[in-house]
Amino acid sequence: MTQELRIPSTTTEIHASDSERQALATRYQQVRQSTEALAAPLAVEDYVIQSMPDCSPTKWHLAHVSWFFETFLLKPSSADYRSLDPQYAYLFNSYYNAAGDKYPRPQRGLISRPTVGEVYQYRRHVDEHVLDLLECAAAEDLADLAPIVTLGLNHEQQHQELIVTDLKHMLSHNPLHPVYVTRHPNSAAHVAPTSWSEFAEGVYWIGHEGSGFAFDNEQARHREFIQSFRLASQLVTNGEYMAFIQQGGYQRPEFWLSLGWATVQQLGWQAPLYWEEDDGAWWQYTLSGLRLVDPAEPVTHISYFEADAYARWAGARLPTEAEWEVAAATVPIDGNFVESGRFHPQPLNGTASSVGLAQMFGDVWEWTQSAYSPYPGFRIAPGALGEYNGKFMCNQYVLRGGSCATPRSHIRPTYRNFFPPEARWQFSGVRLARDS
Ligand SMILES: [Fe+2]
Repeated sequence: MTQELRIPSTTTEIHASDSERQALATRYQQVRQSTEALAAPLAVEDYVIQSMPDCSPTKWHLAHVSWFFETFLLKPSSADYRSLDPQYAYLFNSYYNAAGDKYPRPQRGLISRPTVGEVYQYRRHVDEHVLDLLECAAAEDLADLAPIVTLGLNHEQQHQELIVTDLKHMLSHNPLHPVYVTRHPNSAAHVAPTSWSEFAEGVYWIGHEGSGFAFDNEQARHREFIQSFRLASQLVTNGEYMAFIQQGGYQRPEFWLSLGWATVQQLGWQAPLYWEEDDGAWWQYTLSGLRLVDPAEPVTHISYFEADAYARWAGARLPTEAEWEVAAATVPIDGNFVESGRFHPQPLNGTASSVGLAQMFGDVWEWTQSAYSPYPGFRIAPGALGEYNGKFMCNQYVLRGGSCATPRSHIRPTYRNFFPPEARWQFSGVRLARDS
C-alpha cells in the first residue's frame, strides 16, 4: 500500500470511496475520543501506577494503542513516517515478537517518561498521520488499509475495558477509596427467582460468518452437536453468592477443582476480589468508592475457580461456550455497557426474568467451562498480527457477553474473551447451566 494520490476514474468510484473513507475517519475519531474520555476523571498521578504485572498504567494503554496504529498501519504505509521517538517502539510493544524487542511488562509502572503530556502529544501525532492517510489514500489502497484500521479500533476498545479494570485494581489499594465516578445507590431492587430456559439437542452453527468485523478466534464457523440443556434466566447475584460464603463455600474442598482449592489456600481467598468484611457486613470497593455489597447486583470479580465451585455448590454447572452462544442468538444485544457510565453491574429489574434470558450482554463477563482453544479451521495469520489471539490458546477459559466496562459496539454473540482461571480483576461473573 502507498500514500500516492491516484485520480479516480469514475464518478461512482469517487462517491463510494469518499463515503467509506469518511465513515472510517469518523469511526477512528469516535473511538480515540472515547478512550480519552475514560481518562478524563484522572489526576496525573493516577496515570502512572502499575498495581500488578497483569495491569498496566493508563498512560501505557494510551500509548500502546497508538503504537499499534503506528506499527501496523503508518510505518508499512509510508517509508517517510517518523515516530515522535524511535524508543517508543520498544516501550509500547506489548507482546508482538515479530515487531521487535519489548520493555518488560511487570515494569511498566516504573516509567515516568514520556510524561502524560508527552503521551497525549504522541496520540495527536498518530491521529494526524492516520487521518491524513485515510484522506489521501488511493481508493484501491483504502481497501487494504480499512481492515487494519478496523482491527486497530477494536484493539483500542479492548484496551478501553482494560483501562477501566486496571484503574479499579490500582485505586482499590488506596485506603481513601477514591471515587472515579459518582453513582447513585440502587433503589432497593427485587430480583425475581431464577427460571430456566430449555434448549433442544441438535447440531448448531457456532462462530462468526458475514461481513461485519470479528476477531480471528471467532472463526471458522462450524457445526457442533449440543446435548439438550437448560440455562439460567439471569446472573448469579451477590445475595446468592453470600449464601455460598455463609455455608462455608471457601472452607469446603468438595466444591472445588484441585487447582482451585490450592489457589484458595495459597492466596487466602474468602470472598470475591474487592470484598471486605467489617463487623459482620460485606463491603466492596467500586469505582464509585466503598459500598455495602448489594444482594441484588450480579456478583463480579470472581475467578473461574470460584464460578465453578459456586455452580457445584448450587447443584448446577457452568455453560459451555457453544451453549451460551446458542442461547445468546435468541436475545437482542442489550444491557449495561460502558456507555451507561456506571462502571458497575446493576440489579436486574424484578420482572425481567419472567420474559426469558436476561443480562446475557453487559454487566459481567460470564465464565464458561470451555477451554480457550482453536475452532476447527482456525488458522494463525502470517506476520506479526497473527500473534493477536492464536498464541494464547493454552491454559485459559472463555468468557462471553461483555461487561459494564465493554463498549456496546464491541460485543457480539460470537465474541470470545479469555482469561486464566485464577484471574479476578475483570468484571467476571457467573450464569448457571444444567443438563436437562
Ligand atoms: Fe494490545
